[in-house]
Amino acid sequence: MADELEQVVAELRRVIAADFPIVSEVNEHLLQMKGKLFRPTLLLLSNKASGGNTARAITLGAVVELIHLATLVHDDSVDHSVLRRGLPTINALFSHQIAVIMGDYLYSRAIIELVRLEDLEALRVLARVTNEMTVGEMRQLEAHDKLAYGEGAYDQLIRAKTASLLSGACEVGALAAPAAFRQGLARFGMLLGMAFQITDDLLDYTQSEAVTGKPSGLDLREHKVTLPLIAALARMPADSPGRRVVAELMEAAEPSDDLVADVVRLVEGAGGLETARQRALELAQQAEAELDVLPPSPARDALQGSIAYAVERRS
Ligand code: IPE
Ligand code: IPE
Ligand code: MG
Ligand code: MG
Repeated sequence: MADELEQVVAELRRVIAADFPIVSEVNEHLLQMKGKLFRPTLLLLSNKASGGNTARAITLGAVVELIHLATLVHDDSVDHSVLRRGLPTINALFSHQIAVIMGDYLYSRAIIELVRLEDLEALRVLARVTNEMTVGEMRQLEAHDKLAYGEGAYDQLIRAKTASLLSGACEVGALAAPAAFRQGLARFGMLLGMAFQITDDLLDYTQSEAVTGKPSGLDLREHKVTLPLIAALARMPADSPGRRVVAELMEAAEPSDDLVADVVRLVEGAGGLETARQRALELAQQAEAELDVLPPSPARDALQGSIAYAVERRS
């Protein structure tokens, strides 16, 4: 996909171009940050695997990556994160105010582009998806009872904040295809997206920032309860010492590195990492089954390969 992805990046550059100084400065910084381009890759593959026309898919790929980029700019401000793709975040380098405005700038550029294409179906899917993502981010913010946070609520959260966009990318790639392909690919993207976010949540526990390009252990520092911790807590009795350490972290306004490391060890010891890995693999298997609806092709094989990539990646 390398050639097509290069065209996606060129399209992205065109779509966000601005002649206002601060906006173009932030744009330049964002264009230096290299992401994996996973969503446009899925859109292009889904397009090929369902017999579509690639020219329009390149622009739609740029739009999907742009929506993703807008959510990252806002997410880093909300999460107080200082590092993204190995470079300082917009909130760290500029300010939270600029991050808020730039997220809106990027998102509205994506909408302008969809309107220019006069592609009402793509607009319908992506407008719904971005709205779901905002509700997902709000769910996260509003999850107050940390120790009682369960897997059902977590599933609902990751579907909304992450899987909805991967699903939308796959669906938009197949808008011109028969309904069975479009629906199958949308379900594929949803399951893959859940596995993808569980893997991201695992990497937050296991990988260094040098590898992921994002701060390590940030979820715990921000009191975010993700699947490894949910699974570990389910195995800790009501008044166990482990549970008390977790409660201590959740009550500390700024948990120390030692406290974060203690909780990471507890979670690993209680099998939380392993359980989350198994859950990601289970979702990956369910995603794979959705591809059966498509006729065999190299693009379908690559979509199958993207499942292994989503769960085995290191960054
Ligand atoms: C990060 O997405 C946000 C999540 C949904 C986990 P990616 O892991 O796709 O980030 P980039 O685009 O490659 O930087
Ligand atoms: C995914 O959640 C965020 C979005 C869907 C924007 P995270 O907060 O875990 O993503 P990272 O780890 O910052 O990339
Ligand atoms: Mg974040
Ligand atoms: Mg994360």
